[in-house]
Amino acid sequence: MTEFNSKIRTIQWIDNCSRMVDQTLVPYEFRYIDITKGREMFDAIRNMIVRGAPAIGIAGAHGVVLYAMELAKENSSREEFIKKLLEKADYLKTSRPTAVNLMWAVEKQKDIIKNSKSDINGIINELKENGIKLENEDIEINKRIGDYGAEVVPKGATILTHCNAGALATVGYGTALGVVRSAFANDPTIQVFADETRPRQQGARITTLELTMDGIPTTLITDGMCSYFMKKGMIDLVVVGADRIAANGDTANKIGTYTVAIAAKYHNIPFYIAAPLSTIDTSIKSGDEIVIEERSREEVTHINGKIICAPEVNVINPGFDVTPNELITGIITEVGILRPNYNETIKKAFENNLP
Ligand code: MRU
Repeated sequence: MTEFNSKIRTIQWIDNCSRMVDQTLVPYEFRYIDITKGREMFDAIRNMIVRGAPAIGIAGAHGVVLYAMELAKENSSREEFIKKLLEKADYLKTSRPTAVNLMWAVEKQKDIIKNSKSDINGIINELKENGIKLENEDIEINKRIGDYGAEVVPKGATILTHCNAGALATVGYGTALGVVRSAFANDPTIQVFADETRPRQQGARITTLELTMDGIPTTLITDGMCSYFMKKGMIDLVVVGADRIAANGDTANKIGTYTVAIAAKYHNIPFYIAAPLSTIDTSIKSGDEIVIEERSREEVTHINGKIICAPEVNVINPGFDVTPNELITGIITEVGILRPNYNETIKKAFENNLP
C-alpha cells in the first residue's frame, strides 16, 4: 500500500501496461493495479476503478494500446489488424457514456491508426507515444486551468466543490481542485467545503483525502447542506469539474451539481466550471443531447454493502445532471476563462486553439 500523496500520478503507461490507482478502494487503501488487457481496461472504466472525465480519457487511450498489443499476436494482415483494432477502440468508447474525454482520447488514437504508414509494430509504438503525450499534456493543462482559475478566487475565500475533480479525476493536479491548489499556493487562508456527493461519495472519499493531504483546510458537508451555508454567507464561490460541455455551455457533471448551481444563483454566488477543452463537445448544440449514465440501484440502496432502505423500493440512479449555461459564471479552461455568450466564446476558443 502506497501512502497517499496528491502528487502521485493517477494513471501512467509504464512497463507495457497501464498502472492506475484503484479508486474503488480509496480512502481505505491507496493501491496501484496494472491493467494488461483491453477488456480489463473496459471493465476498469465501467466499474470506476479509474474515474473522472480526464482520467478515463487517458484510460481509453491506454486501452487502445493494450488491444493493439493483443491483436498483434494474432498474425493477421496489417489491414485486418487495423480493422479489428478500430472495432475494439469503438467498443472501449461504450464503457461509460457521459464523459466525452473518453471518446475524445480514443478518437485521437483512432486518428493515429488510420493515418499511420507504419507496420503493425510501428503503429503500436505510435499509439504508446501518443498515450504518453496525452498523459503529460493533461497535467500541464490542469496547471494552466489552476492558474487562470486562481485569479477569480477572492482572498480568504471559502470554495464549495462537488464530487471529485482533483488529481484522482485526472492524470494529476486536477481541474476544480487544480484551481483550489493554485489559489492556495498564493493564499493559504482559503478553504474548501466539499459536498459528500451521494451515492458514490467521491467528495467524502476522494476530495477530502486529496485536500487534507495537501494541508488545505477542508470541511465535509452532505449534499443537502449547500443552500444552508450559502444563506449564512459562508460560501464565496463554487468551482466544479465537468464530464461534457455542449457548444452552448450547458454542462454535465456529477448528479447534484445542478442543485448547487441553482442555490448559487439564488444567493448571488459565482458558479464556475473548471475543465479542459477536451471536455467540450462542440458537436452537440445543448445539454439536451448529452447521454446521462444510469447506474445500478445498489449504489443507492446500499452503503458499504449494507442495505439502508426497504429492499423492494423503486430506485432511479442517474450518474450526472446538466447545469444550464445561464447558471454558469464562467468556464475555466487551459486557454482562459470563457464567459457568456458561450456559443461565441467556446467557438472562439476552438478557432484559436484547435486541439
Ligand atoms: O462518476 P465519476 O466519479 O467519474 O464522475 C466524476 C465527475 O463528475 C467529475 O466531477 C468530472 O468528471 C470532472 S473530473 C476532472
